[in-house]
Parts: sequence; structure tokens; C-alpha cells
Amino acid sequence: MTAGNEKRYLTVALGKGRLANKAMELFEQIGMGQPEMKDKNTRKLIFVNEEAKIRFFLAKGPDVPTYVEYGAADIGIVGADTILEEHRNIYEVLDLGFGKCRMCVCGPESARELLTYQKQIRVATKYPNIAKDYFYNQKHQTVEIIKLNGSIELAPIVGLSEVICDIVETGSTLRENGLMVLEEVCPLSARVVVNQVSMKMQNERITELIRRLQAVKAD
Ligand code: PRP
Repeated sequence: MTAGNEKRYLTVALGKGRLANKAMELFEQIGMGQPEMKDKNTRKLIFVNEEAKIRFFLAKGPDVPTYVEYGAADIGIVGADTILEEHRNIYEVLDLGFGKCRMCVCGPESARELLTYQKQIRVATKYPNIAKDYFYNQKHQTVEIIKLNGSIELAPIVGLSEVICDIVETGSTLRENGLMVLEEVCPLSARVVVNQVSMKMQNERITELIRRLQAVKAD
């Protein structure tokens, strides 16, 4: 907090990588960019726009909802997959319309019947909560969830699991590894999330920021 009536900084947490770059293009379009963030060689983590009284920091995607829930960031830009997986107490306020992809159950064609006949199967995933919710609450199928941290497509190929629950964007990783989408869990895209206290205390500024992002976002 700053003294007197001086405006305090709004803090925005961005998930490192593609989403952060796209998000910064939007902030640039609404006159709140930070050119230093474009420098690919920088190791800086925090970037300030003094004029707009806004500061940005880069975090691992899955940590963004955590920073926002605890109020270390007022606002976060993160994929819907992370929001669904992390179950944090935050407000999701805007779909930015980029980073579109799908959460899917995938595997070889031969695994399709295992999903139909309620077989006890193994599901490898980076998203155990999303997978649990889909199989237990929506499909009512008892499965064993195996948590992995990446290269999920390997699992059915080497026999760790029958299927995977993972993000599909272009579908080329699946194609190049002889796998396919068997079922779609949900569509995904980049979202804006807000800390619940900040939404009350900084309501005017945050609402205005959301309105401006909404005006320039992709359809
Ligand atoms: C993601 C996802 C798939 C791939 C999908 O992995 O887990 O593997 O992208 O994209 P595609 O449909 O366009 O091929 P990511 O590149 O984030 O790396 P990871 O395997 O380490 O999770």
C-alpha cells in the first residue's frame, strides 16, 4: 500500500510462455504494455509500467491461481485447464479467446471400447483433478489416475496406461504418435482471474481494466 491518496500498483501474474506473450500484446493494445518484457534474453521476473501503475510478473502457469488467491497478485492470466485443476478461491472474470485448445481423453483406437464398457483402466495425466472429475462424476467410471509431469503421450505407447487425459491443440503430437482423441472433456482458452478482496477494494480500476481487455480481445 502507498501512503495518502496515491494509487497503488495493480499486480498482474502471467503464466510463463505463450500465454504471457499473447496477454502482453493485449496489455500493449490498451496502452498498458511493458516493452522490456519482449526481451527474450531477460531473466527479470517483474516488470513495472509506472505510468499505468501496473506491474507484471511471470510465474509457472499452475502457480498463477495461487498468487491470485493469496493476493500477491490482484489479477492473473492463465489457462482454463490450470483454473479447473487448481480449484482456488478466485473469480474467473473473462475469457480472452486465445490459447484455444481442448482437454481430451486420448489413446489408440483399440482403447475406445474400454471407455464404453466401464472397464477399470489406467489414465495418465498432468491434470489428476480434471481427470477424476470427468471419470468419476461425469462418466461414473472407476479408473486409476496416474500423475505425470509432461510428455503424457508416452504413457499408452509404453504401456503405463490405457489412455491419457491431456490438452490437444493442433493434434499433431497425437498423430505423430499413433494416438487419437477418443472423448472430449472440455474446451479451454486463456482466462482472466481476480483476487476476491482486490475485486472489492480496487473494483473501479479492475472493472475498467477488464472492460478494456474485453474490447481488444480475440473473438
Ligand atoms: C502439450 C500437451 C500435448 C501437446 C498438444 O504439451 O500436453 O502434449 O502440447 O499440442 P498439439 O495438439 O498441438 O500437438 P506441452 O508442449 O505443453 O509439453 P508437455 O508434454 O511437457 O506437457
